Amino acid sequence: MKAIYPGSFDPVTCGHLDIIERATSVFDQVIVAVAVNLEKQPLFSVEERMELLRQACGHLENVSVDCFEGLTVDYARQKGAKVLIRSLRAVSDFEYELQMALMNKRLNPEVETLFMMTSAEYSFLSSSLVKELAHLGTSINGLVPKCVEEKLLAKLGRRAQEAEKR
Ligand code: COA
Repeated sequence: MKAIYPGSFDPVTCGHLDIIERATSVFDQVIVAVAVNLEKQPLFSVEERMELLRQACGHLENVSVDCFEGLTVDYARQKGAKVLIRSLRAVSDFEYELQMALMNKRLNPEVETLFMMTSAEYSFLSSSLVKELAHLGTSINGLVPKCVEEKLLAKLGRRAQEAEKR
């Protein structure tokens, strides 16, 4: 069975990767899909986010990386997938995720949302927090895949240099 794991992935963290790895043992094929979300102001372009995901998931044979615009359920239909994977980190995620799952169900009753609990060691993690730590020069080792750490430090380091010049 094919499943889609949609998200912003700006950037992918070890918490996301943990969900992806666990999903690969449940589903035959997992499509990690970067949403082109016009409401969020991403640090990384869609292409950069996809490239980082590809590098981070390079060891997983049944994972592919893609992007989509528009409704997730329309994308799922287009890909022939009937399952959306989402993760829950804490109770605070529940309300938003329930709302989204119910709306997706209304939009396409054939698509099921399956939730996986984030592993305890990543339950406090978010892409924004990682970016904030990196921006403040704090180590993000162990919170993101190595490729993300390098790219994040290079990007924010360059930004800091540019800001200093101004
Ligand atoms: N480990 C670490 N962090 C996690 C995590 C995990 N397991 N699961 C979620 N997060 C964090 C992310 O890092 C992200 O942090 P940030 O807000 O600091 O960037 C946050 O939780 C939200 O994550 P994400 O899964 O990317 O959700 P989102 O709200 O940005 O996007 C979509 C959700 C893309 C699935 C949703 O907006 C969507 O479906 N968009 C398409 C349009 C659509 O269909 N709309 C109707 C929906 S009903």
